[in-house]
Amino acid sequence: MTIGFVPTMGALHDGHRALIREARLRCDTLVVSIFVNPTQFSPQEDLAKYPRPISQDRALCRKEGVDVCFEPTAEAMYPNGFQTVVTLPTVARRWEGEIRPHHFSGVATVVTKLFGIVLPQVALFGQKDFQQSALVQQLVKDLNLGVEIIVHPTVREADGLAMSSRNVYLSQEERKRAVTLYKSLRAGAEAIRRGVTDGEAIQSAMAQVIKGEPAMTIDYLEICDPTTLEPLSTVTRKTVLLGAVRLGPIRLIDNILVAAKHAGRNFE
Ligand code: PAJ
Repeated sequence: MTIGFVPTMGALHDGHRALIREARLRCDTLVVSIFVNPTQFSPQEDLAKYPRPISQDRALCRKEGVDVCFEPTAEAMYPNGFQTVVTLPTVARRWEGEIRPHHFSGVATVVTKLFGIVLPQVALFGQKDFQQSALVQQLVKDLNLGVEIIVHPTVREADGLAMSSRNVYLSQEERKRAVTLYKSLRAGAEAIRRGVTDGEAIQSAMAQVIKGEPAMTIDYLEICDPTTLEPLSTVTRKTVLLGAVRLGPIRLIDNILVAAKHAGRNFE
């Protein structure tokens, strides 16, 4: 019997639904966890007001044929005396790891705990959180967790904005502007497809698009190796463009995988 697992923090949308549907096809018993993990939020972040529409989430799980909706409490996951945390691999060091210093240690530890509780053979993660999925793949390999990790492509709104539980924080006006991050990454991918190989030139093509949107500020726009997430100064092979910006109350993150021009096609 194959156990499939989709870990989430709830406020489920069509991105989560796509992971659940793919998992459903790959296993006999499907477990979805809904746990707003406190250890991956910093004190200034939105733990208290993170959306928790639990009855809607349960209804979505029921509709999609989820067998077990696992909803542990924070006390059950982190009882008094809890001490052990996972030390992070280098793939978690830069980008989100730099801006959110405790975030990935919380993610790596809770994912390890959830795998230990659910004991899945296969687990699904979204490409939307590219660095998180790279971290989980390294974690599973290094600690012999024996879980096959499937990374599902990013699910987007009609205009291209990557779906996220935090998009509900955007005002109508901000929501319209939010797609600029994706447009910026597309401009970078387009430059690569046109044959531009210089990292700085690609970066400035991306930054140009964001600069046309005064409400948006750049955290990072990077051209990286998709396995190590180290920055590339010249693009000669498959590359991931990683972006993070601030808009009103939230940070938006997104990414595009792209092949170098000579490899002949876009991988997204
Ligand atoms: P959460 O943000 O709820 O996301 C759960 C899973 O859904 C993650 O693997 C995420 O990458 C994926 N996902 C989110 N938006 C997506 C989209 N638009 N398209 C495709 N997949 C998408 O990520 C977490 O929770 C937590 O860090 C967790 C792994 C559960 C650990 O607490």
